Amino acid sequence: MVCVGTSPLGGLPTIYGYDVEAGQAVATIRRVLESPIDFIDTSNEYANGESERRIGEALRSAAGGPGNVVLATKADPALWATEFPGSRVRESFRESTERLGVDRFEVFYLHDPERFDFGHMTAPGGAVEAMVQLRTDGLATAIGVAGGDISEMRRYVDLGVFDVILNHNQYTLLDRSADALIDHAVNAGLSFINAAPYASGMLAKQVSARPRYQYRAPSPEIVRTTAWLHQECARFHVPLAALALQFSTRDPRISSTVVGVSAPERVDELVENEQREIPSELWDSVRERLVLPPTVT
Ligand SMILES: NC(=O)c1ccc[n+]([C@@H]2O[C@H](COP(=O)([O-])OP(=O)(O)OC[C@H]3O[C@@H](n4cnc5c(N)ncnc54)[C@H](OP(=O)(O)O)[C@@H]3O)[C@@H](O)[C@H]2O)c1
Repeated sequence: MVCVGTSPLGGLPTIYGYDVEAGQAVATIRRVLESPIDFIDTSNEYANGESERRIGEALRSAAGGPGNVVLATKADPALWATEFPGSRVRESFRESTERLGVDRFEVFYLHDPERFDFGHMTAPGGAVEAMVQLRTDGLATAIGVAGGDISEMRRYVDLGVFDVILNHNQYTLLDRSADALIDHAVNAGLSFINAAPYASGMLAKQVSARPRYQYRAPSPEIVRTTAWLHQECARFHVPLAALALQFSTRDPRISSTVVGVSAPERVDELVENEQREIPSELWDSVRERLVLPPTVT
């Protein structure tokens, strides 16, 4: 199952190297509503709330209404804040409901908690306690933790209060650092959401297209391996994006894979790439060169 990631949609030129204007963002979300994809991921702070505002506009103006789409958003600290208390989680929740035009969320994450001390986040009156209260009050069906730092994410799993965990950029064709975290989270009963299967673009775009790897310029080794992957995929007439996507979607431990989109045609490509047949010879070749785990079949 795929989920549409919307961090590019607010317009984040410093991260993605291009801007997305509001009309294109709204058209992209409308295309999602017409597609088989029914899961959208955003956050309070993507482009200072602009991602949520644009999604909200698309949901309100959609001809057929929002349908059964599941919205996941994230609680963020106030801009430049040095603390993230429970009161800010509730305020962030309220801001997100207003922008998106809903009164509750199916999935509500605590966003990048590694920005703050674990003791601060888990103290009485703190952010974690407020997350649990939102679920108790029926304002979130599932509460999650979304972040990048693997050892810190493991500590949040071990609290035993979260239903979902999202980690990004670290379970891809090029980086499997999150493998043990996935096992740990699933064994603890959480759903694992894998975000950024293209490592922020590198595993979908040609090397010549000024792609990014984990939001930075790629190392020469990553450029070489990605060039080989493109070549090998071309031999089998498969886009690298399809291989990179299915590396994640075929893993039975992963409940959903979040892919960033910037335009309506990206939504169509995502649907196609999820369904595309990939010859077993291509998997065999890639498995041998990249030493892929046995979960990839
Ligand atoms: N801490 C967190 O909670 C966290 C962190 C990271 C990500 N996320 C979530 O996960 C989502 C995905 O991460 P991401 O967007 O950074 O990385 P990603 O999904 O690995 O890559 C997205 C980039 O790939 C490019 N792309 C997508 N489909 C393509 C295609 N068919 N052909 C060529 N290029 C394609 C897009 O570029 P163009 O469309 O511009 O060409 C887009 O900017 C985010 O949007 C966000 O919702 C959450």
